[in-house]
Amino acid sequence: MTGPTAAGPGPGAGSGGAANRRLGVLISGRGSNLQAIIEAIAAGRLAAEIAVVISNRPDAPGLERARRAGIETVVLEHTAHGSREAYDRELAAALRRYEVALVCLAGFMRLLGPAFVAAFRDRILNVHPSLLPAFPGLRGQEQAWRHGVKVAGATVHIVTAELDAGPIVRQAAVPVHEDDTPETLSARILSEEHRIYPEAIGVVLDGGWRVEGRRFVRAGGLRGAAGR
Ligand code: GRF
Repeated sequence: MTGPTAAGPGPGAGSGGAANRRLGVLISGRGSNLQAIIEAIAAGRLAAEIAVVISNRPDAPGLERARRAGIETVVLEHTAHGSREAYDRELAAALRRYEVALVCLAGFMRLLGPAFVAAFRDRILNVHPSLLPAFPGLRGQEQAWRHGVKVAGATVHIVTAELDAGPIVRQAAVPVHEDDTPETLSARILSEEHRIYPEAIGVVLDGGWRVEGRRFVRAGGLRGAAGR
């Protein structure tokens, strides 16, 4: 592979923007965030191209969404690989084949090892259904509901080796109502995920940002409390 692509070892992303605007979207299930990205691109709200959708599960409903949109799909079953490292190597090779500039985790239910994260440094995004750093890990919405918080939300962050702990690109808050259930709260959070994920992808592809310590900082600064 030539050129300053995501797969290269060079400095993190930031200032100059991505080498191209090709996305590799990783899924394991339903794929509603994938759908939101597809729709944002189709509507001209996100200037990007989904080069490939990769699933670790052959039965992920999101694969059908990709096929319907005419996007190439790859199934890489983790059960077929001896170790996490072997799986991650295969995954990285597939993403390089499709020359993706940015890897978007969209309900991808697998931890990525440090070698993979280093190979795509500052070029992996994830969407998480809580206002991180609160409620990392599984079922963030239910954790928030059980905790009794009055405000919940969604976060798009850069993926680092530490789970759900990378620099925050965008967040959106939603109220928690008295009569909410984990399901109704999840639905409210999900619609914010669908809004902020394509926005965050555009911001990262555009460049003009840097990571300072834990902070994702844009040259022009973010407007509004929630980075809108
Ligand atoms: C979303 O809630 C996302 O925040 C979390 O996994 C879920 C994926 O949903 N990481 P979908 O597959 O995009 O519908």
